Amino acid sequence: MDLRVVDHPLVAHKLTVLRDEHTDSPTFRRLTEELVTLLAYEATREVRVTEHSVRTPVGPATGVALTRPRPLVVPILRAGLGMLEGMTRLMPTAEVGFVGLVRDEQTLQASTYAERLPDDLSGRQCYVLDPMLATGGTLAAAVQFLVKRGANHITCICLLAAPEGLEAITALLDDLHVPCLLVVAAVDERLNEFGYIVPGLGDAGDRLYGVV
Ligand code: URA
Repeated sequence: MDLRVVDHPLVAHKLTVLRDEHTDSPTFRRLTEELVTLLAYEATREVRVTEHSVRTPVGPATGVALTRPRPLVVPILRAGLGMLEGMTRLMPTAEVGFVGLVRDEQTLQASTYAERLPDDLSGRQCYVLDPMLATGGTLAAAVQFLVKRGANHITCICLLAAPEGLEAITALLDDLHVPCLLVVAAVDERLNEFGYIVPGLGDAGDRLYGVV
């Protein structure tokens, strides 16, 4: 797995405000979107493009267009939804699929409760959105799901990662032999006994959407 920690002062600044326990939900949502757009810029560096010609008011010009099939963005429900707008703002013609995974708070194991994805993902560039790579269980389950559908080009975008999650997802991807890029804003110290990233930013889903 290829890990990219995006080193940019605006990324660091937005992440600091997200971490702040006094940041309210509307600000948290807006900053998450802005941060994801910055991470997405890095994450889409290898998005496939095809030569495309246009006419400017002055004459012909050669540029590029996104290659078909279009990239597929897959937010993991629920917290990944908070990252969707930031991603599609950068790549508005991407298609969007959904995977719903829930983490058992005792065992920390993830299981699927919903999915809406194309049946065949072979040859499709997939961008998985999940804000917190904690134990790695949720992201690993989502990646396994995509690989079962034939995905062989996967990029994951997370706001934060813990070393334990990085280790887990690296081990899985080595087993699956699927190349994967992981783009994050920062790698934090560790997980605490409840599976939260330390110092992290708390429960991303709750901070985006409230406790339900
Ligand atoms: N999920 C979160 O929302 N926060 C964490 O710190 C870990 C998992």
